[in-house]
Amino acid sequence: MSADDWWKCGIVYQVYPRSFQDSNGDGIGDLDGIRARLGHLVSLGIDAVWISPIYPSPMADFGYDISDFCAIDPRFGTLDGFDALVQEAHARGIRIILDFVPNHTSDRHPWFVQSRSARSDPRRDWYIWRDPAPDGGPPNNWISNFGGPAWTFDPVTGQYYGHSFLKEQPDLNWRNPEVREAMYEVLRFWLRRGVDGFRVDVLSQIVKDAQLRDNPPNPDFVEGQDEFHRWLMLHNTDLPEVQPIVAEMRRVVDAFSDTRSSRVLIGELYLPLPRLVAYYGRNAEGVLEGVQLPFNFELIATEWQAARIRRFVRDYEAALPAGAQPNWVLGNHDKPRIASRVGPRMARLAAMLLLTLRGTPTLYYGDEIGMTDVAIPADEVQDPFEKNRPGLGLGRDPERTPMQWSADAQAGFTTGTPWLRLAADWRTNNVEAQSRDTGSMLALHRRLIALRRAQPALNRGDHEALDAGDEVLAFARNHEGQRLVVLLNFGETPAPIPPASMPHRPVVLASTDPARAEGIEGPLVLAPCEGVVIGTVDDKGPAAP
Ligand code: NOJ
Repeated sequence: MSADDWWKCGIVYQVYPRSFQDSNGDGIGDLDGIRARLGHLVSLGIDAVWISPIYPSPMADFGYDISDFCAIDPRFGTLDGFDALVQEAHARGIRIILDFVPNHTSDRHPWFVQSRSARSDPRRDWYIWRDPAPDGGPPNNWISNFGGPAWTFDPVTGQYYGHSFLKEQPDLNWRNPEVREAMYEVLRFWLRRGVDGFRVDVLSQIVKDAQLRDNPPNPDFVEGQDEFHRWLMLHNTDLPEVQPIVAEMRRVVDAFSDTRSSRVLIGELYLPLPRLVAYYGRNAEGVLEGVQLPFNFELIATEWQAARIRRFVRDYEAALPAGAQPNWVLGNHDKPRIASRVGPRMARLAAMLLLTLRGTPTLYYGDEIGMTDVAIPADEVQDPFEKNRPGLGLGRDPERTPMQWSADAQAGFTTGTPWLRLAADWRTNNVEAQSRDTGSMLALHRRLIALRRAQPALNRGDHEALDAGDEVLAFARNHEGQRLVVLLNFGETPAPIPPASMPHRPVVLASTDPARAEGIEGPLVLAPCEGVVIGTVDDKGPAAP
């Protein structure tokens, strides 16, 4: 395999840096902590780490409010420490993907400080400023993703500025070519330091309607529903002008791709399927000039039923432009954890689904040990989303609790006081304990990832839907004569597998019992919530990537 398609065959692992590993006892995870834990990532078998923002930030949105795009927040470390991380990760075969946040800065970013200082400031147009509406209110009806108007009045110059998120996160004006160039320079800064790509935050929202027209009402809005859904985000999301900008970003990043390795762009895009696949950026010649991986969040969004997922996989495969690489995500720092959404038993099946489907998987830290959401008492809430709209279940602290490494004090996460409380089960549920247990969630992840890496059918084979009854999601992965069949029982009762769906070959891996993988005689019956991979393993193939 050539190094340039590592992101097609490889596995991405998301680290939320505050919560991964603290190295200096301040209770906040940091870069040296990540470096100290590379061994875990190597033994897990992942290929790239996406690290959520590590740049200087007032932390109004925990790093997604950035006051300097080209430095490291002292809480996370130093640039030297970052370089050391990149070097050591690369030496151990792990690529580093940073979070690029183009839509907004912190209100403390020097660009915004200048921009707000005077209407005549040269940086005024770097942000979105407008006069008040005739009644003195906001210029239009846009709502912030975190609740309340997407506009804040600034008495210094008597105008409103736009912010799709917190008022501490003013939106940049991507219609301004100087902004675009300055942000591309940010990409180059990190690419020169050797990073392998970027996850691009809220990519679909970076361009706003030039006339800032009101959004139309959402006909499906029900009174009492979250006000965010009151309007359709017609004029501030997914405008046609975003696509050429994505292509520009891609050119910036591609200029750093070399024979050693290609650099990758991953877009954060919560969009319906036809709009999502547009971000591959297929041009008139059929060349894909958009992001290589527009994040596919369907496994987070959908109801957890075999029929739903089967239908989506079919539609997704059909919607992908020629040559486009699919991808799948089970969890991230904004959404409830998979083990809490579907329960611990089903989470094992979900891991098997994520790691056997055709497409690049992204794994959220802690999901490999089945971490669950942690209820955070009101007086410990950190997330601004929860603070803005308490009690609606929107807060993201529950899925951001510290990684559970061992039964040592504070789960081995810190020698100090963790910034967010640990899950109650950390003494028994941690990496160390699970490493000793061949039946653990961690052991299952290691087996699945090792299988995926070693088997061309799994890491680059095609996808063939099979029929094994309503409750069983069944598909084959085929590559150059190798065929592996995946059978996943979403039901709560045993599922006999029709012989037609099962080659007369052994079980290679089961989501339940590692001993099950030794082979089977007679008809195959899946236990409730059990998944298996069956077929003949190719023991000659190189491990990907
Ligand atoms: C999406 C990020 O994933 C989320 O954590 C953040 O709050 C918003 N974008 C704003 O940057």
